[in-house]
Amino acid sequence: MTRFATGVSALRSSEIRDLMSLAASPDIISFSGGMPGNELFPLEMIDQIYQSLSEKEKQVAMQYGPTNGQPALLESLAHYLEKKGLPVGKNRLLITTGSLQAINILAKAFVDPGDPVLVESPSFIGALSAFRSYEANLTAIPLRSDGLDIAALKTALDSGGPKPKFLYFAPNFHNPAGIIYTEAVKRQMIELLSGLDIPLIEDDVYSDLYFHEDDLPKMRTIKAIDPEGIDVCLTGSFSKILGPGLRLGWMLVPEHIYGKCELIKQSMDACSPSFSQVIADKFIRSGAIYTYTGQVRLEYKKRGLAMIEALEKHLPGYVSFEKPRGGFYIWLHLPEGADSTLILKKAIERGVVFVTGKTFDPAGVKNNCIRVSYCNTAPDVIRRGIPLVAEAIREICG
Ligand SMILES: Cc1ncc(COP(=O)(O)O)c(C=O)c1O
Repeated sequence: MTRFATGVSALRSSEIRDLMSLAASPDIISFSGGMPGNELFPLEMIDQIYQSLSEKEKQVAMQYGPTNGQPALLESLAHYLEKKGLPVGKNRLLITTGSLQAINILAKAFVDPGDPVLVESPSFIGALSAFRSYEANLTAIPLRSDGLDIAALKTALDSGGPKPKFLYFAPNFHNPAGIIYTEAVKRQMIELLSGLDIPLIEDDVYSDLYFHEDDLPKMRTIKAIDPEGIDVCLTGSFSKILGPGLRLGWMLVPEHIYGKCELIKQSMDACSPSFSQVIADKFIRSGAIYTYTGQVRLEYKKRGLAMIEALEKHLPGYVSFEKPRGGFYIWLHLPEGADSTLILKKAIERGVVFVTGKTFDPAGVKNNCIRVSYCNTAPDVIRRGIPLVAEAIREICG
C-alpha cells in the first residue's frame, strides 16, 4: 500500500464534491461556488494594461521574481493598504500565490502535528483543510451574528490544555456565515488575547465588496486597530477584486513572523506569478482598481438583494438567515437535526445546487445549515433558483 504522510492521508474528497459531479449539467443553477461573476471580470482593462507594457516590463512579467514579491507591486499594494488604515510601515508585506497560500504558509510556520488551533464554526473550508494537512487539532469556537462567541472563546482559553498556536477568523462578510464582526466583539477578542502569545490569522478577502459605505468604520480589521501585545497576521487577496485566475494574495505580518514565512514560501514556489504581479501593480497604480471595485460592488449588491428578497418570499418560516451587507454568501439555518445533504440531493433533482453545512463545520458533522452564494448568478436566475431550494427544503423538512 502506498504510504502517504499522515496529514495527507486525512485529506478526503468531500461527499459534496462527489454530489456536485452529479450536478454537471450546463442547465443547473449554481449557488454553490465562491467564484466572482465570470461576466464581471475587467477584461478590457487587463487588455489595455498588457498593451501598455514596455518590452522590459513584459520581460519582467515572464521571468522569475523575488520571493517576497515584485518591488513595484509591493510598493503599490502597500499604498493601497495604507489608504485603508493598515499599519503597513510597522509590518512586512509578502506577496503570495492566492491568500490560501498565505494561510498555508502561516499554518506551516506554526503547527506541529497535534497542536491545538482555534477556528470559527462555521469556517472557510480552505483554511480548515490547510490546518488539517499540518495535522492541527482544531478547536471550534461558535460564530454568532456579531462574531465569535466570546464566552466560548474565554472557556477555550481557560481550559488549562496546551496553548493554541493561533486563532483563525474572518471578520468581514464571512464565508460561509455572511456576517460582519462588530467592533465590540473585536475589542473583546483583543482584551482576551493580549499578552497571551497566541497570534491571530485575520482573513480579510471580501471587505472591498461592501453594499453600504457607512459600514466601513465598523469593518476595521484588528490589524488596522493595531493592538499592542498581539501578533496579527492579516491575509488578503486579489481574487475577489480582480480575478482568482491571477492567483495573487498577500500577508501583512510582524517582522519576526515574516522572515520564517518568506523562507517557507521560497521552498514552496520560489515566487508568485510575475505576470500576474505586473498586471496587478498597474491595476492599482492606474486607479483602475477603484473604478472596478466600485462597479462590481453595485452588481453584487443587486444580486445579494435579489437573493434576500427571493429567500424572504419562498423559504418556510422555520428557516432563518442573517441578511448579508456585502461579500458573496447567505447562510441558512434550518431546524436542529435537519440534514442538508438530503436537501441537496432533492435540490439537484430540481436543477439547483448549494453547499451543505457540514462542509464548513470543523468537526464535519453539524449539517443543519446551507450556504447559498449569489456572486456568480444573475438576479433573474436567482429568482428562478431560490424557489427550487425552498421546495427541496420543504420536501425534506416539511
Ligand atoms: C474566506 C476566504 N479566505 C481565503 C480565500 C482564498 O482565496 P484565494 O486563495 O483565491 O486568494 C477564500 C476563497 O474563497 C475565502 O473565501
